[in-house]
Amino acid sequence: MIKVLFVCLGNICRSPMAEFIFKDMVDKKGISQKFYIDSAATSNYNEIEKAGIYGDAKKMLKEMKIPFTEHISRQIRKDDYDKFDYILGMEEKNLANILRIVGDDKDNKVFRLLDFTDKPRDIADPWYSGDFHSTYYDIVYGCEKFLEYIDNKSN
Ligand code: 4NP
Repeated sequence: MIKVLFVCLGNICRSPMAEFIFKDMVDKKGISQKFYIDSAATSNYNEIEKAGIYGDAKKMLKEMKIPFTEHISRQIRKDDYDKFDYILGMEEKNLANILRIVGDDKDNKVFRLLDFTDKPRDIADPWYSGDFHSTYYDIVYGCEKFLEYIDNKSN
């Protein structure tokens, strides 16, 4: 089982979108039983508020026919480092905050999602940009390339 944790600042926009997009992707390929997929925040404020997926992010998933289930924001914990094989941040700042919480990346598990692509860069925060379409396509691109990376590793 390959355990993947998607991480962003608030765990109400990008990382839950990535969680459900990736779940749908592996489901469509018939390989969902190989994966455990979750998402988390680097901040704690949405966990305190028990916030669900942000409305515009849900709208985007619905528009793209990506199924999603009940989700409540949670902050990444130190023990997630041992539980997961891949911890995938959306932007450079996420990586610094992930390492602040989990400690050293001694097993090389922490990556930025678009670093698996030919165009390594941050995925902009749609909470601030308002551009959920670009976020969606960036996440799909990153997830496709991440899946290729895993495929190549296991072959
Ligand atoms: P996310 O976006 O990191 O993609 O989930 C954000 C959502 C909420 C906040 C910041 C970023 N916030 O400040 O509450």
